[in-house]
Amino acid sequence: MWKEITAAEMDWNAFPRRKGNWFLVTAGEGAAANPLLGTYGGFLSLWGRDCAAVFLRESRWTKHLMDASETFSLAVLPEAYRDAVRYCGSHSGRDGDKWTAAGLTPVREAGVPFPAEASLAVLCRKVCACPIETAMLAPDIARDFYTGRYEGDPHTMYVGEILKILRK
Ligand SMILES: Cc1cc2nc3c(=O)[nH]c(=O)nc-3n(C[C@H](O)[C@H](O)[C@H](O)COP(=O)(O)O)c2cc1C
Repeated sequence: MWKEITAAEMDWNAFPRRKGNWFLVTAGEGAAANPLLGTYGGFLSLWGRDCAAVFLRESRWTKHLMDASETFSLAVLPEAYRDAVRYCGSHSGRDGDKWTAAGLTPVREAGVPFPAEASLAVLCRKVCACPIETAMLAPDIARDFYTGRYEGDPHTMYVGEILKILRK
């Protein structure tokens, strides 16, 4: 049921937040894989490769797993799984098994974890982990996204070389 497609064939909205096209980021080795709802991220060409980037805050359990992983995935799920995706954005894998609670199924292809329910899965090899330092940001971005309740909870940008794109 999965078909491998090329990056050029991929239909991905570049502005997921506006369109409600949320994605799940899954990282973690073995049984520890965990999905997180993400909106920060996208695709880019880097180092002669098709790449994807995601941004995870320090507080996320998925970030902890990402740091110990060599791979990760981005996945889009059909509208029918909206509640499941929401669950992954409002609960932490630190507190329990999000897969079971959300009604999702972890699978792996070439060792990369992603949800079986996805309609599109982008499998990546982590090639860069770059902490976003507040001092490098425009003052309004630093103020609006990294102070108050986000104080001490910076993003790290993870870039992955795209290994495989699977579509149903
Ligand atoms: C619409 C939406 C988008 C989100 N995007 C991100 C994101 O891009 N990066 C991030 O670190 N957290 C993001 N979050 C928050 C995480 O999904 C949320 O904190 C999640 O419960 C963390 O799960 P974890 O602790 O199992 O990793 C988003 C949440 C929502 C509701």
